Amino acid sequence: LTEKFEKVPHQRPMLSLTNTYSEEEIVDWVKRIDEAIGGDIEFVMELKYDGVAISLLYENGQLKQALTRGDGSMGEDVTQNIRTIGSIPLELKGIYPDSFEIRGEVFLPRAAFQKMNAERAEQGLELYANPRNTASGSLKLLDSREVAKRPLDAMMYFVLGDDGIADEHFQSVSEAGFWGFHVPDPSKKQIATAANVNGIMDFIHYWDRARADLPFDIDGIVLKVNKRTLWDELGMTAKSPRWAVAYKFKAEAVSTRLNQI
Ligand code: IVH
Repeated sequence: LTEKFEKVPHQRPMLSLTNTYSEEEIVDWVKRIDEAIGGDIEFVMELKYDGVAISLLYENGQLKQALTRGDGSMGEDVTQNIRTIGSIPLELKGIYPDSFEIRGEVFLPRAAFQKMNAERAEQGLELYANPRNTASGSLKLLDSREVAKRPLDAMMYFVLGDDGIADEHFQSVSEAGFWGFHVPDPSKKQIATAANVNGIMDFIHYWDRARADLPFDIDGIVLKVNKRTLWDELGMTAKSPRWAVAYKFKAEAVSTRLNQI
């Protein structure tokens, strides 16, 4: 049934992030970057959105193509479905690069997920498991008119291109906001910078508590080196860049159990 979605090569591979689970691992990551580069390094801290990764290609301000991650080198063309999502602009505003890719996450807000499940319960249908799977299933629907009925949202966190992208990651994401994308809001602490491990741990502790109040699911925090010019210098491991890392929150069920011991 997924025949409808043509497999298309990504212009740039869609990499994954190395996961970490402890303060020690964060300390090690920061140390490795300090050793590789030295001097003052600025880190960007973001939420790790628990949805479906998507890569959008824009040319001359128009949405040309939307691909899922697939295996990272080939994605599935879900352009028609993505075009139905209100927070993804079909046409950009302001001053933007002629050609670029932007990546982010498509997700279903919790309230929308609960409403969908309440309706399914009423109709005696099997309930959806969680917002992420429901968002992922929605993008694979064969009828775009059905996708349009689902209140999917999107948050963008990565701009890629050869020209016209700001040197600093934080700046590049906020510029994307001016072009019309839904991007993390610094005034809500959804994105921030830190100069050291203390600042990073403050952000992690804040969101470990505050995530319960978000209208959507996150499963961790993502840390990135702010200066994009350092990304090449830091390079890659087998599948993930060295300039970024994920910190995963302990799953709710696991921490409950641990508390009882
Ligand atoms: S950056 C090379 N930023 O996590 C870095 N990813 O395993 C590219 N994700 O596939 C990704 N929130 O689906 C980045 N703020 C964020 C993210 C994020 C969620 C997902 C994304 C990616 C996976 C990494």
